[in-house]
Amino acid sequence: SPPLIIVAIDGGAASGKSSTSRLLAERFNLLHVDTGSFYRHITWELLRRNVPSGERTALLAALPSLNFSTRLEGRSARMLIGGQPAGDEIRSQQVNEHVSHYAAVPEVRAILLDYQRGQTEVAKQHGFRGLVMEGRDIGSVIFPDADFRFFLHADPAERVKRRAAEGRQDSIAERDRLDSSRKTAPLACPPGAIDIDSTFLTLEQVVEKLAGLIAPKLT
Ligand code: CDP
Ligand code: CDP
Ligand code: CDP
Repeated sequence: SPPLIIVAIDGGAASGKSSTSRLLAERFNLLHVDTGSFYRHITWELLRRNVPSGERTALLAALPSLNFSTRLEGRSARMLIGGQPAGDEIRSQQVNEHVSHYAAVPEVRAILLDYQRGQTEVAKQHGFRGLVMEGRDIGSVIFPDADFRFFLHADPAERVKRRAAEGRQDSIAERDRLDSSRKTAPLACPPGAIDIDSTFLTLEQVVEKLAGLIAPKLT
């Protein structure tokens, strides 16, 4: 079978990664992998178990018991923990406030690294031509050799507006600050990635731009 096409999309909070990825996945029949939802799911699970991100010994002890698996929902790969899918809680303000702290722990990132790369197998099993994976370090760490690496930018004020329009409370600036300043896999546009400023673009315009670049490789 031909090699999978891998599209990596990174960017700050509410830069448009999920909406863009979902539409590209639909258009090109790709597996959609939202890695932010993985970090959110782990965060919710550890908060539920009373394992704070700052208690290193307890945190490291808890990680091996997380038992990840994957379920396909439409074109999206959902991460299960102990067989359980994530609920709406992973979009809660509580998770918004804690997720970047868990995501800064190198061992948390390490257990997700293999799991995320393993999504290529999920894509193959289900007959997808490729996958579109979104996050903070997809083009830099997870798939540095991806066929396409995009980085979405938008002014912080515009991103706050977008999130507010969804009726969601979010600590965008604080998450961006933590995600950009951590030692392991910080949020940054990696060298060679295609940088797109979407501040003055509609979602449709962003999708057309990316689709135009990807299409020749998929037809
Ligand atoms: O949707 P939004 O962009 O607001 O956030 P998300 O993609 O759901 O990611 C939630 C958090 O997970 C981020 O703020 C990061 O702390 C972390 N994350 C990460 O560290 N690396 C990734 N590849 C994806 C998410
Ligand atoms: O996944 P991420 O947090 O990066 O962003 P998102 O949840 O895909 O997008 C946040 C909101 O901004 C969504 O309601 C989008 O429809 C909207 N939006 C966008 O993504 N891109 C634009 N150019 C304009 C609006
Ligand atoms: O891929 P699909 O369009 O089926 O789902 P999605 O775009 O990943 O999720 C649609 C919306 O459901 C997201 O914007 C989230 O707010 C919410 N969602 C959630 O709260 N918890 C999840 N585990 C997955 C999605």
